[in-house]
Amino acid sequence: METATPRTHWSSRWAFILVTAGSAIGLGNIWKFPYMTGTNGGSAFVLVYLLCISCIGVPLLMAETMLGRRGQANPVGTMRRLIAEAGASRAWIAIGFIGILGALIILSFYSVVAGWILEYAARSFAGFASLTREQASANFSALLADPLRLISWHTAFMLLTGWVVASGVTSGIERANKIMMPALFAIIVLLIIYGIVAADMGAALRFMFHFDLGAVRREVVLSAMGHAFFTLSLGMGAIMAYGSYLDRETSITRTAFYVALADTGIALMAGLAIFAIVFAHGLEPASGPGLILQTLPLAFGQMPGGIVVGPLFFILVIFAAWTSSISLMEPFCSFLIERFGLSRRAAVVSMGFAAWLLGIAVALSFNEWSGVKILGLGIFDLLDTLTTKIMMPLAGLLIALFVGWVMHRR
Ligand code: TRP
Repeated sequence: METATPRTHWSSRWAFILVTAGSAIGLGNIWKFPYMTGTNGGSAFVLVYLLCISCIGVPLLMAETMLGRRGQANPVGTMRRLIAEAGASRAWIAIGFIGILGALIILSFYSVVAGWILEYAARSFAGFASLTREQASANFSALLADPLRLISWHTAFMLLTGWVVASGVTSGIERANKIMMPALFAIIVLLIIYGIVAADMGAALRFMFHFDLGAVRREVVLSAMGHAFFTLSLGMGAIMAYGSYLDRETSITRTAFYVALADTGIALMAGLAIFAIVFAHGLEPASGPGLILQTLPLAFGQMPGGIVVGPLFFILVIFAAWTSSISLMEPFCSFLIERFGLSRRAAVVSMGFAAWLLGIAVALSFNEWSGVKILGLGIFDLLDTLTTKIMMPLAGLLIALFVGWVMHRR
């Protein structure tokens, strides 16, 4: 049964832009974009990423918002309604299910990585003074080797996420976003200034923007396209769920444009700030998922006022991650609520517990279970590849086909 109660709506179009930007801007921009750029050879990746954002990302962002706004329900309910409206094949319901399942999988590893940031936020209060680059790397490896610490922080982050989703989407999220996002922006600007003054911004610019078409390989294209989906929160029901809290009159074209612009801007700035430090300290750009945690502590340890800027930065990243993880939990929860009549709290507990369990496997894949390989990939890489490189592009393609060919004009 779908519920018949009137649906809550965002307070304004700006509120919607804000929460959608909050969903888009997260670990994807500050953690994932820099390390993916590093492992995929720099500028070639950035070029394809920018093309994918503008040619695929923005149109899909509009399409997905539109589906949600028209369906006025959770991703599965929305698809069911639109399929009935168009008299289309029931198979299109796959869009809804790929979305809610994919979001659950992403949430599981997202929460583990957010846990790393929580640990670093806690450490940053003591400062990172006189840290060498070897120590910075060793510190990160030591964290990965400690399952108990990983799991505790992962649990804490999942509880934070569940708490907001349980208390409803409109109240807390809107307000938190309004303060946190501008503050995050300001700190990243500060880091860029640090990069110019005290690190190697020239090398960072060359690494990211010296476009060389010859360096674009197939693997790079797939990674960049996957990341464009990831960073805009596409294909996984999140935007559809948020779009369903729009009333039917709200216009969405400009919204998508603003969100993509803010999201891309933050990612590029974070990338520049981090690579300036990487090159100034002779670090390895391709060192993988630990990149920001091996570089930023060096900068915070050396810059004047680093003892204040460091904690502030990590706290803001946690908030950015938080406003994203909420949007990963909402699609499945709204499905449970509307389809099975669960209370919001019960839905959060069931969905959160499933994602938490899967997250435990992710946390263990860095230590106790590091030998477990499925299709040649560890658990973390497997879940990341499955969602980012397979489920998201597939869902994106299906959404494009559905909106372009199946749905009727009204
Ligand atoms: N876009 C977020 C980030 O960059 C992550 C995210 C939130 C997401 N919701 C999503 C990714 C839905 C895919 C689908 O950190």
